[in-house]
Amino acid sequence: MVFTKTYTLNTGAKIPAVGLGTWQSPDDEAYTAVKTAIASGYRHIDTAWAYGNEEAVGRAIRDGLKENNLKREDVFVTTKLWSTFHRPEKVEEGIQESLTKLSLDYVDLYLMHWPVALNPEKGEKFPTREDGSRDLDEKVTIEETWAALEKVQASGKAKAVGVSNFSIPFLERLLKSAKTVPAANQVELHPYLPQHKLLEYCASKGIHVTAYSPLGSTNSPLLTDATVTKIAEKHGKSPAQVLLSWGATRTSILPKSVTPSRIESNIDLFELSPEEVKEIEALQTSKAHRFCAPNWGVDLKWD
Ligand code: A2P
Repeated sequence: MVFTKTYTLNTGAKIPAVGLGTWQSPDDEAYTAVKTAIASGYRHIDTAWAYGNEEAVGRAIRDGLKENNLKREDVFVTTKLWSTFHRPEKVEEGIQESLTKLSLDYVDLYLMHWPVALNPEKGEKFPTREDGSRDLDEKVTIEETWAALEKVQASGKAKAVGVSNFSIPFLERLLKSAKTVPAANQVELHPYLPQHKLLEYCASKGIHVTAYSPLGSTNSPLLTDATVTKIAEKHGKSPAQVLLSWGATRTSILPKSVTPSRIESNIDLFELSPEEVKEIEALQTSKAHRFCAPNWGVDLKWD
């Protein structure tokens, strides 16, 4: 059964619990994946300027909507501001580039991809200094970038704005000057990194949490975890379905796949018993692990 649960953002908009992740999906695969997802019942698609696939994702959304007799407002689309676009004048350029590539008038959610600004002057996605370290942009603060994102929301080019990869200390810092509370914070989250404290903090501030890498990313050890596979066998489901069924009742989730059969099964979720939920949540104490931890040369203040 297609899992149709939605969460409500602090703007009042509904965000479907299951969205398709497209990080590391090259153009042709992203195009087919997004079309398969829409035909399979997904109404939430996640991309980013940095993924380099916005044009293909946008084309697939357009074609997918048409082929399934759906309208633009039937699908929730998220994209993200890359770190070289943090200066206020570049924020407008960033959203416009994304909208042009996606061929959309607006996105449903526009996120600051990382709380890290990179030097835009070299025209590179990952500018580095001579010593090999990241070339951070000292000319802009996350508060200034956030104020520019608030203007993007006011312009209507994004129905809601939020952040990604923000830990509690970074959210606290942002909230001191923010006029608009971020609608969402998209972070890595799965049973080895359940983010209990962050979820509690975000709930207290009205910030929705979205999980990326809900399966534990590429070659995930979670898919062969003994507890997860035991529960999967008991229900006649796949380990991925166990992980996603756990995840989708806590936050919205963005399983990434370019494999049609997996895309279909990743939205076919079921109810776990309270005991099974406890067993899954016990995994973090023995196996806590973060899979996505790029070295920015900035302390992101995770626990
Ligand atoms: P693929 O895209 O080749 O299907 P995450 O969403 O945690 O980042 O995980 C993405 C990884 O998990 C990708 O390598 C993806 O492979 C794989 N994956 C996605 N869905 C499933 C599934 N149902 N079963 C096994 N692996 C999956």
